[in-house]
This record gives sequence, C-alpha cells and structure tokens, in this order.
Amino acid sequence: MTHFKHRNVLITGGASGIGKLMGQIMAKKGATIIIWDINEANMKIAAKEIKDLGGKVITNKVDVTDNKLVYKLAQKVKEKVGNVDVLINNAGIVTGKPFWDCTDEELKATMDVNTLALFWTVKAFLPDMIEANSGHIVTISSAAGMVGATRLTDYNASKFAAFGFDESLRMEFKRRKMNIRTTVVCPYFINTGMFKGVKTRFPALLPILEEDVVARKIVRAIETNKARLIMPGLVYSSWVMRYLPVSAFDWISSYLGVSTAMDEFIGRENDISPQSGD
Ligand SMILES: NC(=O)c1ccc[n+]([C@@H]2O[C@H](COP(=O)([O-])OP(=O)(O)OC[C@H]3O[C@@H](n4cnc5c(N)ncnc54)[C@H](O)[C@@H]3O)[C@@H](O)[C@H]2O)c1
Repeated sequence: MTHFKHRNVLITGGASGIGKLMGQIMAKKGATIIIWDINEANMKIAAKEIKDLGGKVITNKVDVTDNKLVYKLAQKVKEKVGNVDVLINNAGIVTGKPFWDCTDEELKATMDVNTLALFWTVKAFLPDMIEANSGHIVTISSAAGMVGATRLTDYNASKFAAFGFDESLRMEFKRRKMNIRTTVVCPYFINTGMFKGVKTRFPALLPILEEDVVARKIVRAIETNKARLIMPGLVYSSWVMRYLPVSAFDWISSYLGVSTAMDEFIGRENDISPQSGD
C-alpha cells in the first residue's frame, strides 16, 4: 500500500479537472499537495479549496515543458518540504484537429506537454526516489494511449508514448529490484471540459466518465499499488481486437463510435499553447 499521510504528492496540471480533485482527496488523507501548473489563476483557486478542507498545499507556476525550470523548481520543492513521494504526471493538452490542420507549433506542444514533460519531471525527482528506495510515479495516459481515433493523431501519439514510458520504467524498476511503484491511467473521455463537445455512441458501454469518480479511482489505484488503471473495462478489449484483421479492427472501432466521437469537439479555448497559461 502507498499511504498518503505525511507524504508529499506533486501533481502536474493540478489546478483543474482530475488533477485538482485528486489533490483534494489526497490532502484529506493527510498528504502535502504540491501543485505545478501553468495556469496561475486556477492554481490559486485549487490551493484555496485544499486549504478550506484543512489540507496542506504549495503551488508553483511551472510550464512543465521547460526542463531547466522543472529542475530548478524541483530543487526548491525539496528544500521546502523534502522528497516528493508520489509524482503524478497529469498535465495534458489536446488540439482536437485532423492532423493536416494542426500547425507545427500545435503538434510540438502536444508532444512537449503530454510526453517530453514526463521525462523532465521524472528525471527531476527519480534520483531522490532511488536513494530512498521508495516512491510512486503515476502517468496519466488515456484510452487514446491504447487505441487510435480521428482528430487525435498528435494526442494519440503523445499518449501511446506516455503508456510506453510507464511500461518501460516499471520494467526497469523491477529488473533492478527497486521499491519504486508505477501506475499508468488510461481513461476514456471524462467530463472535465478538456474534451467538451465529444459524444459517445454507446453510453452504457463507453460512458463519458465523471471526473470525481475517475479521481477517486486513481487515488485508490495509487494506494493499492495498481500498475494499470483502464476505464471503462471495455477499453481492454482493444488489445484482444488487435488479433483480428485490421479491417475488422477498424470496423468494430468505427461501429463503437470511435471515429465519430470527436466530430463536435470544442475543448477548452486556450489549451493549445503551453504558453497560454492564465
Ligand atoms: N478529460 C478527458 O476526457 C481525459 C481522458 C483521458 C485522459 N485525460 C488526461 O488526463 C489529464 C488531465 O486531464 P483533465 O481532463 O483534468 O484536463 P484539464 O484541462 O482540466 O487539466 C489539465 C491541466 O494541465 C495544465 N497544463 C497544461 N499545459 C501545461 C504546462 N505546459 N505546464 C503545466 N501545466 C499545464 C492546465 O493548465 C490544466 O490545469 C491529461 O493528461 C489528459 O490528457 C483526460
């Protein structure tokens, strides 16, 4: 079990959506929450909400794509509260456009935030975890890290990469008998607003997930050292479906509405650029 009492939990993108809710849940369990987010205004609100619950929180305005800043602030966090026990790589962005409509800057931003930033934060905090032979690294990937979909080429690429990063890290830790846990999280769409406008064809099979339910399940997965959390269960079937001919895989995927889910995507106005901040 990973316990939260007196533990330091750092959440990237913790000013909004599931990151914010996870912070509240873990603060109530006695963790000190460190929020790293680019959106200062939302971060202030998130911090106040944790304090109102009687929790401990510190905040840093960070663009997680800036590796130098990540390393510098990681040192400051260590000086202020000590080692980070649980690192939750949750910050994410989405363009929601067909590949050919994405600018180079948008494509780069997706990979920078959703993939490369994982390298920088893990590099920043892993040495202390190795020294302490203790720690937990959580990667928020997505169902889009397991199955391709229309208008998500850059997002799919970044989340498949995040999934692979977690899997490889886990194997490294096991190979070297390190007591560092990993959890990868692959949810279908969640009602946080990040994917505003998406539709699901079969809500009973592939529901748009409730953000508070997802946040609670992730916290429980960390507590119980669950290596993989995939929501809903039907997403698992995508692995079995890959045994089928590609035409059958594509037909099932399309029948389930994966190719039309993003047709009316709106998303968040300012999500594209990591610089868009507050
Ligand atoms: N919402 C969904 O449907 C869904 C589904 C599967 C996976 N996810 C993943 O879950 C995670 C959280 O999603 P959410 O729905 O809570 O989104 P959200 O938009 O509510 O929260 C994302 C947070 O990341 C922050 N952020 C963005 N770029 C940043 C940067 N460069 N540096 C620091 N912070 C940055 C934002 O300011 C925001 O506070 C993301 O990784 C997302 O890809 C979301």
